[in-house]
Amino acid sequence: MVGRVTGTGSYVPENYYDNYDLEKFVDTSDSWIRERTGIARRHIISEEETTVTMAWKASERALEDAKIHPEEIDLIIVATISSNVVLPCTACEVQKKLGAKHAVCFDLNAACTGFLFAYNTAQTYIAAGLAKCALVIGTESLSKLVDWTDRSTCILFGDGAGAAILQAEEGDFPSMVFHSNGAQGEALSCGSREDYIHMDGQAVFKFAVRQVPLCISELLEKEGLAPEDIDYFILHQANQRIVEAVARRLGLTVEKFPMNLQEYGNTSSASIPILLAELKRSGVLKKGQKIVLAGFGAGLSWGATLIEW
Ligand code: ACO
Repeated sequence: MVGRVTGTGSYVPENYYDNYDLEKFVDTSDSWIRERTGIARRHIISEEETTVTMAWKASERALEDAKIHPEEIDLIIVATISSNVVLPCTACEVQKKLGAKHAVCFDLNAACTGFLFAYNTAQTYIAAGLAKCALVIGTESLSKLVDWTDRSTCILFGDGAGAAILQAEEGDFPSMVFHSNGAQGEALSCGSREDYIHMDGQAVFKFAVRQVPLCISELLEKEGLAPEDIDYFILHQANQRIVEAVARRLGLTVEKFPMNLQEYGNTSSASIPILLAELKRSGVLKKGQKIVLAGFGAGLSWGATLIEW
């Protein structure tokens, strides 16, 4: 069995900081940020919004898109590093808000690879016959974990949520690869909810441009595919230069690598499902296309999955 993506949804807060706003907090400039990252603005939650409310709104849109009722969902997995509270988990909070009373719910922390790992986990539940209709969410309020006086990190991150509905149907288990390397964990860390994100930017950059093309090649090799056979590569939206370097190393131009990081910055586990939802909504994704999702981030962790759309 395979989980077919039958619905997607996203939610980003209305409020945002553009690069000129950040010039007022820290010693930076619009041109430095655009040149080094490609980011122009990042959306920031209001007082009334939380990691849970964003996930809930993205999920409602995904349910509407898939035309299913909340009670049909039997599995909710939320990927997040910025839950409102330690307990209960975000997935249970979303379950309550949706009224998805037949779902089993848990959270998963794999940082910016979180959605990919959650998606892969949902696929394995479906393949094992443990779930028929899964809701997979990435949701983050990183503005709460950012030190707004640290110019090396505050320019990068934003808030938002994305969700996908996976429904079981006959088909082969999708190809996926995933990796972790705890030995390099200090490159990207955050001690607690009272702490801030600390990052060795260059170490993370080097890790991403090396490992992401390698793991995509590993995935394609498993399937006997060449990079040219893939219609779209939906990468974690951390930095335009990382996405461009991955495309180059795979011998491709950047056209097959859609990006929305200009608008949202790095939303960690939410970035892949937000982009997926935007591409589905705008009709870019068509039946029969081959799509690769690839995530990378703290842990360190990274991976890729093939979707037959
Ligand atoms: N504005 C102006 N100058 C800055 C800023 C800023 N916002 N931030 C740093 N600088 C300065 C530094 O202080 C340094 O100055 P110095 O030469 O006087 O010491 C100079 O710019 C160069 O700093 P570097 O850190 O070497 O800059 P680099 O070119 O590496 O760019 C960046 C920094 C954008 C963070 C880059 O390393 C990067 O993109 N790394 C990957 C980060 C990332 O994507 N992390 C998340 C991925 S994983 C995940 O999503 C969790």
